[in-house]
Amino acid sequence: MAEKAGATRRPYRDEEHAINARDVHFDFHSVPMHYIPDEVLATHIVNVMHLVLPEGERAMAQCLAEALPFIDDERLREEVQGFIGQESMHAASHEGARQHLQSIGLDVDSYVSKIAWLVDRILGGHGLTGRGRQEWLKERLGLFAGMEHFTAVIGEWLLNADVLEERGMHPAMLDLVRWHGAEEVEHRSVVFDAYMHVDGSYARRARTAILATATLLPLFIVSTAHLYRKDPSANKGRFWGLQFVSATKRGVIPSWTTFFTEMPRYLRPGFHPSQLGPMDKALRYLAHSPAARAAGH
Ligand SMILES: [Fe+2]
Ligand SMILES: [Fe+2]
Repeated sequence: MAEKAGATRRPYRDEEHAINARDVHFDFHSVPMHYIPDEVLATHIVNVMHLVLPEGERAMAQCLAEALPFIDDERLREEVQGFIGQESMHAASHEGARQHLQSIGLDVDSYVSKIAWLVDRILGGHGLTGRGRQEWLKERLGLFAGMEHFTAVIGEWLLNADVLEERGMHPAMLDLVRWHGAEEVEHRSVVFDAYMHVDGSYARRARTAILATATLLPLFIVSTAHLYRKDPSANKGRFWGLQFVSATKRGVIPSWTTFFTEMPRYLRPGFHPSQLGPMDKALRYLAHSPAARAAGH
């Protein structure tokens, strides 16, 4: 691949292949309320991705756009730009799923507006200027780098969870979460590299990662409980606690302990997301995903 004048000389291979948004399309019209049949709680755990992630992804795209002027490495700039495009596309695609769920009787809109308000309040720019603005930018990059570690780990899980097909998960929803998971694996290093480039302090990386974990786990629990309560279906199966234990045992959902077991790895001083494991499966999925193929990739 030809290099532009002034570009860095890092080759495009493995972790450093070019990151680009794919213009995917999903058709949700035949997706039922419980799109993992007989797995009501597991379906709502997946639904959290449609409700909570888009708002976070928009905030992340905004933060990375603000970081661009501080990134003078040509290749990293290119990756950040591709990342912004991918996260914006994730947010838009989950919004399509969300609208479908609302149209079939699951009231998600009121919750989403609360999340949007909260994300804006917590992760927005706060009208800061000068040094305060720069410090807040570094802090958010640290937080998002920590969160991206979890999305990459869950992305890997989604790519390997054959049980989702075995349980008959609706193919459009399965493609949506796997395509998203695959792109999370594909761009797993970008925010980390941007953070290291703009700040790089270990103390901030560790503190913000712990804060990210402490936020994500309760958010997942509260959001799942809300969705389960709002589900208007007459039959929601067994008591939710039993469903949770059973789905965890059978591997239909990732283990909640991931939030704790992943921390020591991320907190290692020499950690880099490229150590997470091969990304072959993610790249192969992106080559075959119905939605990504439809987009011409
Ligand atoms: Fe994403
Ligand atoms: Fe991501």
